[in-house]
Amino acid sequence: MNIAIDGPAGAGKSTIAKLAAKKLGFVYVDTGAMYRSIALYVIENDVDPDDEAAMSTALDKIDVSIAYEDGAQHIFLNGRDVSTEIRQETVGNMASKVATKPAVRAKLLDLQRGLAKKQDVIMDGRDIGSFVLPDAELKIYLTASADERAKRRYNELVSKGQTPELEQIKQDIIARDYQDMNREIAPLVQADDAVLIDSSDMTIDEVADRIITLCRQC
Ligand code: DC
Repeated sequence: MNIAIDGPAGAGKSTIAKLAAKKLGFVYVDTGAMYRSIALYVIENDVDPDDEAAMSTALDKIDVSIAYEDGAQHIFLNGRDVSTEIRQETVGNMASKVATKPAVRAKLLDLQRGLAKKQDVIMDGRDIGSFVLPDAELKIYLTASADERAKRRYNELVSKGQTPELEQIKQDIIARDYQDMNREIAPLVQADDAVLIDSSDMTIDEVADRIITLCRQC
C-alpha cells in the first residue's frame, strides 16, 4: 500500500509523514531530500542550473541513494551521507530551482517508483499523488497558510539557536510556492482524488491521526 502526501514548503509533511509511517509500520520516503541532494552537488560544484549541458554532465556524475538506519531515512550523494547538510535554506531554495529541470526529475523518478513498488510507503513531495504514484491508495494534500508555515519555520530555526528574520522566511516560502506550482513539468497541484487537509489550526498528532484514520478506511 502506498500513501502520497503532497503540499507546499513548510506544511509539516515530513514531520507528519514520519509519525504516521511509524504508527502504521510503513517506510517513510522523503523525495524533497533527493532534490536537495542534487542541489547540494550543484552548489558545491558551482554548476549553473540553467546551463543544460553543464547540468547534463553533472547529472551523469551524481548518484543519489537512500538507506534506513533505525527507521530513519539517510540520503547519500555519491556515497556521502548528506542528510544533515541538505537541510540548509540555501539548499532548499536551490532544490526548488533544479526541480524545474526535466532531466533532474527524470533521474529521480525510477528511484521513487522503485521504492514504492517494493514496500508499503508514505512518500512525501510535490508531485507524488499527481505524477509519481498516480495509483496510491491514499493521497493527501497537506497545506497551511503562508503565515503559519513561516512561523513554524521561524520557531524551528530559533530552537536551533539561529536568529532568522520572520518576514524573510515568509517571502522565501511564497517564492518557493510560486516556483513549485508554476513550473512546466509535474508542478505542485492537488490531485483530483487527494484529501485536502489544512493544518493551520491542527496539531501534528491531530493531522497524523486523521491520516491514519483515512488509511484504515481505504
Ligand atoms: O520538501 P522539500 O522542501 O525538502 O523540497 C525541496 C524542493 O524540492 C521543493 O521546493 C521542490 C522540490 N521537490 C519537487 O519538485 N518534487 C518533489 N516530489 C519533492 C520536492
